[in-house]
Amino acid sequence: MGRALVSVDNVYANNLGTFEKIINVVLPVEYEEEFFAEAVDDSANGVFYSQLAYYGEIAIGAVKARLIANKNGGVLPAGVYIEVLAVLAAYRGKTAGSLLLNYIEEKCRESFQHDLYVHVATDNQSAIQWYEKKGFVKEGEVLENYYKDTTASKDAFVYKKSV
Ligand SMILES: CC(C)(COP(=O)(O)OP(=O)(O)OC[C@H]1O[C@@H](n2cnc3c(N)ncnc32)[C@H](O)[C@@H]1OP(=O)(O)O)[C@@H](O)C(=O)NCCC(=O)NCCS
Repeated sequence: MGRALVSVDNVYANNLGTFEKIINVVLPVEYEEEFFAEAVDDSANGVFYSQLAYYGEIAIGAVKARLIANKNGGVLPAGVYIEVLAVLAAYRGKTAGSLLLNYIEEKCRESFQHDLYVHVATDNQSAIQWYEKKGFVKEGEVLENYYKDTTASKDAFVYKKSV
C-alpha cells in the first residue's frame, strides 16, 4: 500500500538508523547514542515522543520530544520539550515539519500538558522564523552555552507555545 505524499509514522528499531542519520545530517549538534536509543526504548529514563516523516516511501524528517510531567518537583517546568525537529533540506516547505509538529502538539494534549517548548540556537534565523510562524513565543533570556558539541552557536533561545 502506498503512503500519502507526505506522512508521518513511528520510529522502530529497524528504522532507528534512518532516524539517527536524518538528525545528524540536518543538525549541527552531536548527540550521544543513548539520545537516539531513547526514541524506541520503552524502559528509557523518561517519556519520549518520536516520529519519522516520509515523502512517499522516503524518510525525510524526524522529531523527538520529551515529556516533563514534573510530578516529583523537578527543576524544569512541566511540559513537552521538542529536542530535535529536522527535515532534509531538499524536502523542506512540503509540510513535513508541520506534520511532525502537529504530532507533538497532539501528544502534548494527550498527556494533559499545555506548554510546548523548544530550544533554538540563536543563529538559526530560519528556524526561529518558522517557530514564530507556528505560534511559538520567545521566553526569558538567552541560555548561554546551552549546546556543548555543536558547530553552530552554543547559545539558545527558549520558545514556548501554549497548546
Ligand atoms: C524548521 C523545519 C523543521 C521546517 O520543516 P519544513 O518541512 O520545511 O516545514 P513545513 O513545510 O511544514 O513549513 C510550512 C510553513 O513554513 C513556511 N516555509 C516553507 N519553507 C520555508 C523555509 N525554507 N523557511 C521558513 N519557512 C518556510 C511555509 O510557508 C509554511 O507556512 P504555512 O504553514 O503558514 O503555510 C526545517 O526547515 C528544518 O529542518 N530546518 C533545519 C533544522 C532546524 O533548524 N530545526 C530546528 C531546531 S530543533
